[in-house]
Amino acid sequence: MIVLGIETSCDETAASVVGPEGVLSDIVHTQQIHSEYGGVVPELAGRAHADKIVSTVNAALSEAGIDKPDAIAATAGPGLIGAVLVGLCFGKSLAAGWGVPFIGVNHLEGHLLSATLEPDGPEFPFLSLVVSGGHTSLYLARAVGEYEVLGETVDDAAGEAFDKVARMLSLGYPGGPEVDRLAATGNPKAVKLPRPRPKVRAPKTPSGHVGTRPLDMSFSGLKTAVRAHLQTENPVAPADLCASFQQAVVDVLTDRILRAADQTGVGRVTMAGGVAANSQLRLALQALNLDVSLPPRHRCTDNAAMIAHAGRSRLLLGERHGLDRAARAQWTPGVV
Ligand code: KG4
Ligand code: ZN
Repeated sequence: MIVLGIETSCDETAASVVGPEGVLSDIVHTQQIHSEYGGVVPELAGRAHADKIVSTVNAALSEAGIDKPDAIAATAGPGLIGAVLVGLCFGKSLAAGWGVPFIGVNHLEGHLLSATLEPDGPEFPFLSLVVSGGHTSLYLARAVGEYEVLGETVDDAAGEAFDKVARMLSLGYPGGPEVDRLAATGNPKAVKLPRPRPKVRAPKTPSGHVGTRPLDMSFSGLKTAVRAHLQTENPVAPADLCASFQQAVVDVLTDRILRAADQTGVGRVTMAGGVAANSQLRLALQALNLDVSLPPRHRCTDNAAMIAHAGRSRLLLGERHGLDRAARAQWTPGVV
């Protein structure tokens, strides 16, 4: 089955064709318009997707050498609703016009299953850390569609913390890649920063869990500690601060992965989402005494190959969605 995937949940307009042999095309257009605002402006994102969606999908089809796929998979959430709607409605319209099956895909499930798109990807069950600008969650994946949230951030996402620290240092948006680059020349022990643990009585987490689990995370205190350091009389050089901050994030994430492996007895581990492109985090995971397989960096940040792949995995199990499938701003992967 050859599937066209469409992704427009945030600031990437992306389309990809995936078949039994793997990825046939993978087109990602990153919107530049947001950099001057220091973050994604939802209204502008939706408009820019509308401008680019036709040319992006056409490019994906022509690079794959096909006129029409066997099915269409489009991100239906979670994400900026006006942005999600562009790709979702476009995907549904193509499915209706071509008379092919349609499936709405959970963007986080796309990240979660990313590593299984690779020839040497993990077999089920595996642990998958989805760590991006909007989400930081650790899942136990038992099968396609069967995911358990083992822990998640109770406040900022890790990528959000990277972006906020980059902003404090005037490094531009998105800040993660720039912090990563600067940190490579800095001393991770230059500043003593906390590895915060969520308070015992946490508010409701994004997936609706009430109370704190041992594998939950918190990043807002770390970001505040960086700000406090910058307000001292003699702050360290930006590279040292970036390295120290990055090390704190890496320590928290690797700690939760080790605990999760211990708790579940599952030693196969992967991760995805923009922060999974981070050099130090990738090295730290690969150094763990676990069976770690990581998607390549360009499949960690938002792309449509992961959407085509997640959609295809469900389509092959017989799942189809009606053309009344709604867009969702919040959606825990695995929930129907
Ligand atoms: O998955 P993604 O492309 O979009 C979302 O679904 O959020 O993730 C974007 C996030 C941003 O916060 C960006 O700063 C961060 O991923 N990011 C990184 C790196 N590359 C992207 N963070 C740390 N190191 C990187 N190399
Ligand atoms: Zn994402």
